[in-house]
Amino acid sequence: MSNDLKGKTAIVTGASRGIGKALACTAASLGVNLSIAARQEGPLKETAEEIAKKYKVEVQPVVCDVTKLQDLENLVNKTKENLGDIDILINNAGVSSQYPFQEQPLEDLEKLAHTNYLGYVRLIRLVINDMINRKSGSIINMVSGSTLCDPLPRNFIVYSSLKVGLRAFSKALFWELRDHGIKVTSILPGVTDTDLTGKLKEITQDTSRLMTTEAIENAVRFALTVPQNVCPLEIAVINQQTPWTAPVIPYKQAHLNK
Ligand SMILES: NC(=O)c1ccc[n+]([C@@H]2O[C@H](COP(=O)([O-])OP(=O)(O)OC[C@H]3O[C@@H](n4cnc5c(N)ncnc54)[C@H](OP(=O)(O)O)[C@@H]3O)[C@@H](O)[C@H]2O)c1
Repeated sequence: MSNDLKGKTAIVTGASRGIGKALACTAASLGVNLSIAARQEGPLKETAEEIAKKYKVEVQPVVCDVTKLQDLENLVNKTKENLGDIDILINNAGVSSQYPFQEQPLEDLEKLAHTNYLGYVRLIRLVINDMINRKSGSIINMVSGSTLCDPLPRNFIVYSSLKVGLRAFSKALFWELRDHGIKVTSILPGVTDTDLTGKLKEITQDTSRLMTTEAIENAVRFALTVPQNVCPLEIAVINQQTPWTAPVIPYKQAHLNK
């Protein structure tokens, strides 16, 4: 894919708020037309209007639950119909659920797996053949800095182990597809102050330790604009100092019912 992204088309999942919204803005600032996806229509439409107004690109909001195959197929079809070939996929939608494992609600396990792992892999599967045929495409997967910990952070092991799986899948996918001209990049963010991380400020000694989305935006801009014959395989952007005051990640910050 050429470095000039003006007029290219991207899908960004989980783009109504948080990191996804920031990355949709980053892509739009490079002239990329967007299909943005999330489950709740209201915030998604507002985000689409905000981006279209600010960056003068086409932005199509598509209500989509990434746990549902039909919704993913609809997202891909609507993007191709209205915006053309998909050049960039930013797989970002995610949920969190932090509990000691023995207390973790059983329904959270399935939802985590379907959103944070299967949703990513299925959407890639739906766009990959077109990318292979065109010998071009960029896939960005939102992994997590927690995958750098071994053992994984306490109270966070289902979420983190699925992200480990996603990270392994992403790296292997690049290896498998590198001769087809397709870039696959994992972004490993540190603890970022979004809805997903809950009321971080209340448990942080020094709020300057919290990451904003800025470093992640820079990482994705870099990934999308590297020379054509290079692939940034993984980019980790981690908090300089631990944002937690307690030695373990506090739990009971489930967000699955949103
Ligand atoms: N924040 C952090 O510290 C951090 C650190 C490392 C990695 N990450 C990863 O970064 C990604 C974004 O996190 P965030 O902090 O920006 O979260 P966030 O602020 O809670 O935003 C999550 C986004 O995903 C959407 N979403 C959730 N479930 C979905 C589903 N089933 N189908 C479609 N969209 C869905 C949400 O919209 P709806 O609710 O309307 O669907 C929202 O737009 C996640 O993959 C997360 O694991 C975050």
